[in-house]
Amino acid sequence: MHLTGEEEAILNGEEGETRQQLMEILVGVGKVFGAEEMVPIRSAQVSGASYKTIGEWGLKWLSSLDARAVVPAVLNPVGMDRIRWEEMNIDPAFAQKQLEVIAAYERLGIRLECTCTPYYLNIIEYGDHLAWSESSAVSYANSVIGARTNREGGPSALAAAIIGKTPKYGFHLIENRKPTMHIHVEGGPHESDPAWYGALGFLAGKICGDKVPLFSGIRPGRDQLKNLGAAMAATGAVALYHVHGITPEARIFSYPTEGLEEVIISSEEVESLFTEECVDAVALGCPHCSPDELVHVADLLDGCIVKKPLYIFAARDIIEREADLVRRIEKSGAWVYADTCMVVSPALERYERIMVNSGKALAYVPSMCRAGAVIGTTRECIKAACTS
Ligand code: F3S
Repeated sequence: MHLTGEEEAILNGEEGETRQQLMEILVGVGKVFGAEEMVPIRSAQVSGASYKTIGEWGLKWLSSLDARAVVPAVLNPVGMDRIRWEEMNIDPAFAQKQLEVIAAYERLGIRLECTCTPYYLNIIEYGDHLAWSESSAVSYANSVIGARTNREGGPSALAAAIIGKTPKYGFHLIENRKPTMHIHVEGGPHESDPAWYGALGFLAGKICGDKVPLFSGIRPGRDQLKNLGAAMAATGAVALYHVHGITPEARIFSYPTEGLEEVIISSEEVESLFTEECVDAVALGCPHCSPDELVHVADLLDGCIVKKPLYIFAARDIIEREADLVRRIEKSGAWVYADTCMVVSPALERYERIMVNSGKALAYVPSMCRAGAVIGTTRECIKAACTS
């Protein structure tokens, strides 16, 4: 791997122990994946932020580091709303540890936006190289925006934030961004709700593994794409996909795609995932809600009082910008929380069956919250929350 003089100096410890240690991580990853050089990044997004997932060892490692991020960098969701954690019934001992993790990241110059939707913070554009680690955000950045990132682990994303570079391999190279599978959706979507695309992604991810699928037969908008990609990254390892006529790089690659393995998923298969089952809580916002999704939820909740716990998750920045909408939603008794989500917070572990409008949450809630999960459209979720 070719390193510049400046990169060699960091690796030799001339800029301190922490930068040396983090450069070693980047060079190690680069060598494993055959990178020929490093590439400067526009931003980083760092996972490993919830105390629920990193535990005491992770906190200790973070506390031992002494350097600052040199590019805009944000965190993945943590285990609780940083301000309203008591209201979420978070154990004070957990909260104390979580606040220590957040403080450790803040000391390293990571911005305290704890979100899986950093693309709403205007920190990326088409063609930017990034080092992001949350799988749904990686998928959105690559596929919907046309930026370039591999799915980083927490330590390598943090290393990239502090060094300002990442090894150039995988999805940083255009030749690896071509479709390797064609998925035709037969019968088209009967629903424009993002949950329908989440269910499609739930099925498609299991078929794709780590391939780069090109979809035809659907015309999703941005919220639908967000849900599709998040689910494929959860049930499979899809970090980049294209949708014919929709996503920015789909037009670069020829269509129809002769020679590609072709799979057909019917709308009936997608719809068979939607079942009517009794739940004891409802959670929306996986990935974190966009302003449009908050508008939809507020409209559906107008005049309603929730009878079951209804959690809605969004980035703090969006919640603060959309304060009136949040007030309208919370008038119903629902909670709109920032910084966290139904999967990384222990708050939802007390329920037995949770309804979600996300294919990713459908995949993760059973293992991470030890609760059953059911998928419904946003309308069905609101109906379930407002029915005793
Ligand atoms: Fe985001 Fe949590 Fe879902 S991190 S993508 S809301 S599992």
